[in-house]
Amino acid sequence: MPANPRILGIETSCDETAIAILEVGKTLKIVKNLVSSQIPIHQKYGGVVPEVAARTHVAESVSLITEALGKKGMDAFDAIAVTSGPGLATALRVGIESARVLAMLSGKKIVGVNHLEGHLASAWLNASNRKKWKFPLLALIVSGGHTELVLMKDFCKYKIVGQTRDDAAGEAFDKTAKLVGLPYPGGPQIAKLASLGNPDAFPLPRPMMNDGSFDFSFSGLKTAVRIAWEPWSKMEDARAEQAKRDLAASVQTAIVDVLVEKTMRAAEKYKVNGVLVVGGVSANASLRERMEKAIKERLPKLAFLPSDRAYITDNAAMIAAAGYWRIKKGEKHDWRKLDARPEWNI
Ligand code: KG4
Ligand code: ZN
Repeated sequence: MPANPRILGIETSCDETAIAILEVGKTLKIVKNLVSSQIPIHQKYGGVVPEVAARTHVAESVSLITEALGKKGMDAFDAIAVTSGPGLATALRVGIESARVLAMLSGKKIVGVNHLEGHLASAWLNASNRKKWKFPLLALIVSGGHTELVLMKDFCKYKIVGQTRDDAAGEAFDKTAKLVGLPYPGGPQIAKLASLGNPDAFPLPRPMMNDGSFDFSFSGLKTAVRIAWEPWSKMEDARAEQAKRDLAASVQTAIVDVLVEKTMRAAEKYKVNGVLVVGGVSANASLRERMEKAIKERLPKLAFLPSDRAYITDNAAMIAAAGYWRIKKGEKHDWRKLDARPEWNI
């Protein structure tokens, strides 16, 4: 490997086809960062359809890899990092097969990366975060499929200290949005409406907030939201419009209350030096603001390490970064044996 290796990242675990090239030296250089989102395709189904996702990844990955490698071809990279799981099995396999072919033809190193470790690495792509990066760290991973509190003891050394027992935080946003008739993905839509609503209008539960564990549960909240919306669901006047905004504000506040409280308590217990907030739901402005404020007020010595907006949603730069962590530890995989791990936990 050269002194400043270039890692080719490949991500196809869900509804984004993403290819990136990351150069790692004294600084990080994101040479290419290509993302093709399938959201408009899946929107008409109200969620991601695995077979459609896989087929779209096939077409998109070929064109993005061609674009990323350019004239340099196989000389454009020194190693390959590909998302091996967790995710949709058929979708994962598209990226893995492309990566295996590239590894076979180029003879270069390949590592299978955990998608959630990729989300952790998304915070490391930020130069100011890297300066404050001192283990142990605590990470809140909040996405459409995952809600996890991860204690990071070192690069590649993690312990899950809390996780959801049912729905993920992103699902709670998405299902609320669906209930009130908003398109997929619901998180950004709920956030937009919430800014116009009263967060105290609907008294919603804060599930498991004070139970002493670091686990989460959002399915009860989903039921409470459904019951609260019932009387409004058939109305279409201005009052119902305001009720929708109020419900959005109330549900967002309930979710953020629980996420912030549990993160603060875990950060205190494990005596960490900083808190990462990563995954799709970390795009939520209220979550970012309230987490930063809670750290300042309650644990002011801790660093707040969110990922940059550009790397919050699924991308391949974060996969390349996590792949670099693995390669640096001496890991490499045999391209012949690399396979999808749809249920892989971090
Ligand atoms: O990490 P991600 O892009 O994909 C998964 O790996 O799941 O996360 C997608 C999730 C969706 O549930 C989406 O509704 C949510 O992130 N999301 C948000 C916001 N932006 C995206 N949730 C709340 N507020 C947002 N601004
Ligand atoms: Zn993700």
